[in-house]
Amino acid sequence: MTDPSRNIWGTDYKIPWNDPDFSRRMLNEHLSQQHDLASRRTEWIDRQVAWIHARLLAAQPSRVLDLGCGPGLYSHRLARLGHACCGIDFGPASINYARRHSPEGSVCDFILGDIRRVGFGGPYELAMVLYGELNAFSPAEASAILSRARASLSPQGLLIVEVQSADAVEAIGRGEPTEQEFQSGLFSDRPHRCRTENQWLPDHQAAVQTFIVTETRDSQARVFRSTTQAWPDDSLVGLLTAAGFATPSRCEAWPRNTDMLSLWTASTR
Ligand SMILES: C[S@@+](CC[C@H](N)C(=O)[O-])C[C@H]1O[C@@H](n2cnc3c(N)ncnc32)[C@H](O)[C@@H]1O
Repeated sequence: MTDPSRNIWGTDYKIPWNDPDFSRRMLNEHLSQQHDLASRRTEWIDRQVAWIHARLLAAQPSRVLDLGCGPGLYSHRLARLGHACCGIDFGPASINYARRHSPEGSVCDFILGDIRRVGFGGPYELAMVLYGELNAFSPAEASAILSRARASLSPQGLLIVEVQSADAVEAIGRGEPTEQEFQSGLFSDRPHRCRTENQWLPDHQAAVQTFIVTETRDSQARVFRSTTQAWPDDSLVGLLTAAGFATPSRCEAWPRNTDMLSLWTASTR
């Protein structure tokens, strides 16, 4: 049973990605070439950036806004191809990495800030929200972020947003609980156990995951939660249209290594 009084979009239902220790551990996950958990592996980022450059930006120097940029893996590559990039993320370790690794002589600006609040600047020819991050915001937050992204675009501007498929989000929520042991990982630098419990909330079209983390030498458990919004196609089209975008459509040509995410494009007119 869902407790109707709980706020599934409150701070208790977000993993504190912006906490310095979490952010430091998360950076390792972004850069790891063992998995695609926080960012994709290099090979796929290279393919996707080449596609954005050729197919969306017609290989013309453009201004690009990268919302939830992580360590700047996309912005760095686009900047090397001659684009001027502005990346925004609230993870301090990621932004420090992004700044330190900006290609020499490129126009690459990285802002440490919460995309629900910080100004986006502009104008840009392309704004992007990649790797399912939009699903981590409440519908009201997602709507406000997209409206402000729309306002930051030039008259010919384009938005790309890569969303988790509604089926994938529901499958997360309906997943069986799991128990895993780690020597170190996202939740702790020390050996720990993580039990993950999942819940699908049909009324909200959202999945809630609860992570119960116990360090081996300390029996006290810490609990983290994370809510993921499902966006069935028609709801996503409605969200993008309400934010002022025209012609939202799923892009089948986007190079991708999973069916759990798909790319949507939308224009300013
Ligand atoms: C799944 S990662 C994707 C990173 C990058 N786009 C990529 O594909 O390599 C999502 C990123 O969004 C950031 N993020 C989450 N909520 C945010 C917020 N409210 N403001 C700014 N960044 C946020 C996280 O810190 C993380 O770096």
